Amino acid sequence: MVLTPEQEQIGKENFSDAVNFTRRDFIKGAAAGGVGLGAAYVLTEELKANPVKVAFIGTGDEGGVLMSQLPVEYMDVVAIADLRQTNRDRAFKGDGNDVRVGLVRKLGAEKASKVRAFKSHKELLENAKDLGVEAVVIATPLVSHAPIALDCFNAGLHVLTEKLMARTVTSCKEMIRSAREKNLLLAVGHQRHYSVLYHNANSLVQSGMLGDIKYIRAQWHRNNSFPAGDSWRKSVPKTDAEALKDVDLTPFKFDDVNQLVNWRLYNSTGGGLMAELGSHQMDAASIFLGKVHPLAVMGYGGKNFYGIEGVGPEDKWDDDREIDDNIYVTFEFPGKNYEKNNRDKCIVTYSSINTNKFEPYGELVYGSRGTLFMKTEKEAMLWKEDGRGSTGGGPDQRLWVVSAKASGGGPVMEAYETTSGPAKGTGDGPNWADNVSRGYTEEMEHFCYAIRNHGPDYWPNGKPRPVEDGGLRCNGVVAMADAIMALTANIAMATGKKIEFKADWFDPDSDAAPETDPEVVG
Ligand SMILES: NC(=O)c1ccc[n+]([C@@H]2O[C@H](COP(=O)([O-])OP(=O)(O)OC[C@H]3O[C@@H](n4cnc5c(N)ncnc54)[C@H](O)[C@@H]3O)[C@@H](O)[C@H]2O)c1
Repeated sequence: MVLTPEQEQIGKENFSDAVNFTRRDFIKGAAAGGVGLGAAYVLTEELKANPVKVAFIGTGDEGGVLMSQLPVEYMDVVAIADLRQTNRDRAFKGDGNDVRVGLVRKLGAEKASKVRAFKSHKELLENAKDLGVEAVVIATPLVSHAPIALDCFNAGLHVLTEKLMARTVTSCKEMIRSAREKNLLLAVGHQRHYSVLYHNANSLVQSGMLGDIKYIRAQWHRNNSFPAGDSWRKSVPKTDAEALKDVDLTPFKFDDVNQLVNWRLYNSTGGGLMAELGSHQMDAASIFLGKVHPLAVMGYGGKNFYGIEGVGPEDKWDDDREIDDNIYVTFEFPGKNYEKNNRDKCIVTYSSINTNKFEPYGELVYGSRGTLFMKTEKEAMLWKEDGRGSTGGGPDQRLWVVSAKASGGGPVMEAYETTSGPAKGTGDGPNWADNVSRGYTEEMEHFCYAIRNHGPDYWPNGKPRPVEDGGLRCNGVVAMADAIMALTANIAMATGKKIEFKADWFDPDSDAAPETDPEVVG
């Protein structure tokens, strides 16, 4: 959505006011620093006195980001493992910026010197007991999440793995069953579950302030065409090529070092735009819709740019990628009254393209009373809908929030008479929207909290602990639903079919999965 700076400012102030109105208690908690999302969990002095001993498996781009965001008071990094020497070195040295600071800067040289480095997760696991490792953070390519997680469960370790949970739904189910059988935690890194911004936005949506939501538009548009190149295609560093030239990488799920480095481009190692980008945003859309499961998906996906002679950069004519570079999917979700009337649906569209970033990434939630815009995970904006018979609204309109006692409902928005002026009742909440955390630190903090506080029974009644009871926000079962959406969308695009989601796919105890369902892939 293209907005003027004034409209963005108005949208942010509207959002801030509305959050102040509905979640004053939470904002104060967040400002206090030591308090997590809502009252669900409180990090304690006991946890600080006994931080969780953790190993990082995969210290590439994302592993480096996570280590920069490390909750050092609660998480004690004792080891790292990576197949690539360049990324083992990078784990310590960082990238010389604030995004990947490296362990030396994060922990201090002395402490960092005690962190052991291993050449693979298998080598790490052979030494895990001696090092006292209790849990791992996995940030490796998609294809290896499940096999590495299963090895870690077998070694008795709790797992926080990066998203997408796994490359197949069957693998997701194996991970859940193994964690449950071994009584270990399984957390997945869809960080929007731990973002204060999304938490606040969701509390507005759940209060009913937006009215009926019939459409959510989500997108991640990048321009990887100009100057020539693709952020997902990387050259293989000489050091890694040399060090791995005689190493059999097939036990780790890669044919060769190029596939290890460029795993996102191939179907056997990655899950394309839907897994890498779309899964986050479908996760967000489904959070706003109350984490209900979708009804159906259809879509178009194509390799429409790279590798076509005469289109795009010349050196990309022989591009060997397998994944689509242009995707558009449409999901149907049930509305609140779908059970009573099956016409009550909400449509979510998702697109990801490689050739234009006029509107980069975010989610737009279109309600009958208001519009919510989540921009690049960092900003949230809210506008009142300028509906029939209403007293103003639209992107230029400041609003305030009043209680809708008369209608017996939740809070509703009222517009100011003028388009500018001070926020009414802005209150004393801190300006938390600046410098907002994307949720990585909170996700790791909560993982540590859960390890210390959820035992001895990590799976009460064979199920993940509910969030209201301090449970993980993105546990294996929640994350599997995100994987099902992304992977089924991929099948819909590949087959050109409209696919209806089946309840059994979401049940970890059923073997049913979209990739093995004859009605889907037959
Ligand atoms: N949550 C987010 O916003 C976010 C953002 C980016 C990436 N990710 C996810 O993080 C994961 C990693 O992505 P990336 O961009 O860091 O990839 P990357 O290629 O930069 O790094 C992956 C690293 O894992 C290592 N590795 C592979 N198999 C291994 C094994 N068996 N033992 C030890 N090391 C092994 C590789 O050598 C490589 O250094 C992916 O699943 C990706 O989807 C999440």
